[in-house]
Amino acid sequence: MILITGGAGFIGSNLASRLVSSGREVIVFDNLSSGRLENLNAVIGKKKFRFIKGDICDKESINSAMKGVDEVHHLAADPSVKDSAVKPESSFDINVSGSFNVLDAARKNDVKKIVFTSSSTVYGETKILPTPEDHPLVPISNYAASKVACESYISSYASTYGIKGVVLRLANIFGPPSTHGVMFDFYKKLQANPERLEILGNGKQSKSYLYISDCIDAIMLASKKQKKVYDYFNVGSEEMTDVNGIANAMCSVLEVKPKFEYTGGIRGWKGDVVKMLLSSKKIEKLGWKKKVTLKEGIMHYIEWLRITP
Ligand SMILES: NC(=O)c1ccc[n+]([C@@H]2O[C@H](COP(=O)([O-])OP(=O)(O)OC[C@H]3O[C@@H](n4cnc5c(N)ncnc54)[C@H](O)[C@@H]3O)[C@@H](O)[C@H]2O)c1
Repeated sequence: MILITGGAGFIGSNLASRLVSSGREVIVFDNLSSGRLENLNAVIGKKKFRFIKGDICDKESINSAMKGVDEVHHLAADPSVKDSAVKPESSFDINVSGSFNVLDAARKNDVKKIVFTSSSTVYGETKILPTPEDHPLVPISNYAASKVACESYISSYASTYGIKGVVLRLANIFGPPSTHGVMFDFYKKLQANPERLEILGNGKQSKSYLYISDCIDAIMLASKKQKKVYDYFNVGSEEMTDVNGIANAMCSVLEVKPKFEYTGGIRGWKGDVVKMLLSSKKIEKLGWKKKVTLKEGIMHYIEWLRITP
């Protein structure tokens, strides 16, 4: 049985659907702070699926949800870099203390494996692009620091208690049913006013984007094929696109020609890594390959956004 924390969110709900369709028994544990039950429509009511409303900051609640679980996919987090600068304590409580509760509940309940969604932000600002996994971790945001702390605990629990740890350092993931990130932001702004688009920073921040189905392929594969007691993998596209490029691609699909207006500065917000490109060679050696191009991904995402109230 697999427990997914944060399984009512963007990535977690896609993961829950994939795991249930592959025949696994799945429990989603989520406090619905940003996740939504509608994201789980494809699995709610299925025999192999159960939803528990609970908070990872509540030790008893996560501990009792973990009974009989073999594998945990830990995704629950406050995923906002921007918010982690504004509310550092809250981000620490959820992302570090909450993750510790998940890990310790796993230990107490004899869980065999924990799969963790870390982030490309753990590397901080680096000149080595694409960045390989053995690059030093130098976070420049509280969010990234929280992910480094979690990775360290997962490594330690793997070595101390033999709980297998699989860490996935994800690039910017996009697609349905995401309601955050640059593409969602642009879509909403363009819907409100197709004549003008506010772009945070100078539009030159360049990053790697990956469509959700490719991300889920990577999580499924790494979780199945990883042999070591602890290992970590980058997951991203080896193609870097700047924010202006994303804005142009979206405008072309939406057939609008707004005036771009920049808030200025090299970063979109405090802690924003200006250039990010991950080397995905390590996970490719396990057999993973990106299938969806950026343009196809944007088209699928916009199709979904158009029919979503
Ligand atoms: N989306 C990306 O581009 C991206 C990139 C790198 C890493 N990640 C990581 O992947 C994971 C999932 O991200 P996402 O984009 O799906 O975010 P999301 O906000 O859509 O999902 C997070 C889920 O966690 C739940 N949650 C938050 N706090 C909780 C708590 N205290 N107890 C229980 N549930 C709680 C929310 O309700 C939500 O359903 C996060 O750990 C995030 O840091 C995401």
